[in-house]
Amino acid sequence: MESSSSNEPLIRVARLRKRFGRLQVLKGVDVSFAAGQTTVVLGPSGCGKSVLLKHIVGLLRPDAGEVWFDGHRVDRMREADLGIVRRQIGFLFQMSALFDSLSVADNLAFPLREHGVTDEAVVQARITRVATMVGLASSLQQMPAELSGGQRKRIALARAIVLDPKVVLYDEPTTGLDPIRSDIINELILKLKRELRITGIVVTHDLQSAFKVGDRFILMHEGTVRFEGSAAELRACQDPVVHRFLQGEASPEELAEIRGNGASTLGAP
Ligand SMILES: Nc1ncnc2c1ncn2[C@@H]1O[C@H](COP(=O)(O)OP(=O)(O)OP(=O)(O)O)[C@@H](O)[C@H]1O
Ligand SMILES: [Mg+2]
Repeated sequence: MESSSSNEPLIRVARLRKRFGRLQVLKGVDVSFAAGQTTVVLGPSGCGKSVLLKHIVGLLRPDAGEVWFDGHRVDRMREADLGIVRRQIGFLFQMSALFDSLSVADNLAFPLREHGVTDEAVVQARITRVATMVGLASSLQQMPAELSGGQRKRIALARAIVLDPKVVLYDEPTTGLDPIRSDIINELILKLKRELRITGIVVTHDLQSAFKVGDRFILMHEGTVRFEGSAAELRACQDPVVHRFLQGEASPEELAEIRGNGASTLGAP
C-alpha cells in the first residue's frame, strides 16, 4: 500500500451517514485526522463516537458518505482487502475485550497469527517488545483474570500495537480506572505518539485525560461534528452546547426527561 502525499490527512470522513432501524445516528459527519496528531473525540453517550470509529476500520458500512485511509477508500473496500487497513489501524475497544481463555502472551500473539505471522521467533520478539512498552513484560504467562483492570487495559493496548500500526483508535481508554491508573494510560498514549509516531483518535468522557493527550478536539452532537479545534479554542468556545458539555450540565430539554409528575419532590429535604 502506497502512502498518500504528506498534505493529505491520513484519515478523512466525508458526509458520513448511518442509521440503525429508525435511529439516525450519524447525520453527515465531516472530519479529517492528520498524521502524527492525537485527536480527541468528545460527545454525549450514544451520539455515535464508537460507531464513527468502527466505520474507520470497515467494521460498519455507511448508508452514505465516504471513509478514506491513506489514500484508499475504506467504505467500499471488499472484506478481503480490509485486512490491509486493519493491520495499520490498532483498535483499543471500549471493553478491553481480552480473550479470557488465552494467556497474556497468546492474547498478544493473536493479531500476529491472524495476519499470517508464523515465524515463532518473530512472534516472541514482537510480543515481548509491546509488553515491555506497556511495562508488563513480567505478566506474559499470566491469564487475563489474574490482572487488574488497569493492567488489562495496558495489555489490550499492547495488543492494539503489536502489528506496528500507523494509527491507534482508543475507545474510552481510561473509563473505569482510578486517576492514577488513568494517568498511566495517558502517558502510554503520549509515549506511543512520541516514540512510534502513532496517529491517535481518542474517544473519551474523561476531560482531564482529553486535555492531557489531545492535540485537537472534536465534539459530536446529534449526529454531526459540532466543534473542531484546539484545546484553547475548545475552552473559549461560546457555543452553549459545547459549554454545557464541558461543564457537565444537562440542557433544559434533557432535564425535562426526568421531570415527571413526582419530580418536584426530588430536591425536597
Ligand atoms: N450495531 C448496532 N445496531 C444497532 N444500534 C447500534 C449499533 N451500534 C450502535 N448502535 C446505536 O447507535 C447509537 C450510537 O452508539 P455508539 O456506540 O456509537 O455511542 P457512543 O457515542 O460511543 O456512546 P458511549 O459514550 O456511551 O460509548 C446508540 O444509540 C446505539 O444503541
Ligand atoms: Mg462508545
